[in-house]
Amino acid sequence: MNKNIAVIEGDGIGVEIIAEAVKVLKKIAQKFGHSFNLIPVEMGGCAIDKYGVALPDFSLDACKAADAVLLGAVGGPKWDDPTARVRPEQGLLGLRAGLGCFANIRPAKVYAPLAAASPLKDSIIGKGFDIVVVRELTGGIYFGESGREGDSAFDTERYSVPEVERIAHAAFKIARGRKKVLHSVDKANVLESSRLWRETVARVAKAYPDVSVINILVDNAAMQLVRNPAQFDVMLTSNIFGDILSDEASQITGSIGMLASASTGEGTRGLYEPIHGSAPDIAGKNIANPIATILSVAMMLDISFGLKAEAQAIDNAVDSVLSDNYRTADIATDGCTVLGTIQMGDLITERI
Ligand code: IPM
Ligand code: MG
Repeated sequence: MNKNIAVIEGDGIGVEIIAEAVKVLKKIAQKFGHSFNLIPVEMGGCAIDKYGVALPDFSLDACKAADAVLLGAVGGPKWDDPTARVRPEQGLLGLRAGLGCFANIRPAKVYAPLAAASPLKDSIIGKGFDIVVVRELTGGIYFGESGREGDSAFDTERYSVPEVERIAHAAFKIARGRKKVLHSVDKANVLESSRLWRETVARVAKAYPDVSVINILVDNAAMQLVRNPAQFDVMLTSNIFGDILSDEASQITGSIGMLASASTGEGTRGLYEPIHGSAPDIAGKNIANPIATILSVAMMLDISFGLKAEAQAIDNAVDSVLSDNYRTADIATDGCTVLGTIQMGDLITERI
């Protein structure tokens, strides 16, 4: 198979974790006889420094022309001034919207060897959990009308029926391939946009009679996630609710450095990135955990390219390294062997 992959290192640890993910990609190409053409693309703070904008047109064009986009992380204290006109996050939002990646898939599961790192009590984490948050990514309050008027400011949450329908279909399809239970998260007791969301999800549900739908208010969902995460399988959310709940879901796994994500649209092209940020405080020290980015590569191979065996080979290599008690510093537990970013990337690559 021949594929073009746009690769965005971004800022902070982005450079280091992408280097390890690229190693893994090259190993997969060699072992399974594929050819991946990697196209470096500039985005984020580094692009602001060079071009004055976070996502130059030529960077977006390069991503649009590719079969998939692999992204490290963007942002850092240097570009953090909230009053600044240009910010690295604009690059990320521009890329998601520009690629039409409306469906953000964020799996949050407990890796048994890492369960001890979860902040949840043993009695809760002991049951394990395996959740997929399906977050609407190109609408809602992130992209609604916003502004300032005199001494007030506003941001608008707006959803259309087609926007809710397409993300609902994406979530139902995922639920169908799993436990066939879908929690649709909203705030329908207060927000009109949530009432439209709930009505629309109920209509879409008719096409998936094998999937049961449970409507849950977002505040309750946040509480239930720490009380009994095992009750959830697929969670369908708006953009802002998914932003918040996916951080919560990732943290309770105990290993935010492990969690990958995929963002897809109508076609097969997708954007793949770890869910963590650019961690400027640990950048350049060879201590960042490259596993989330490596697992994002696995999601790319599976979802955009349909290469199931290749994706499985990466997942297995990661599982095997963890079972043998190798860890990066962020997920270190008693008696483990702590590896640097490069050494972890090498070991996973070797085991593929
Ligand atoms: C995420 C991040 C982004 C978001 C930021 C960096 C714009 O928090 O991917 O969850 O809010 O979507
Ligand atoms: Mg977030």
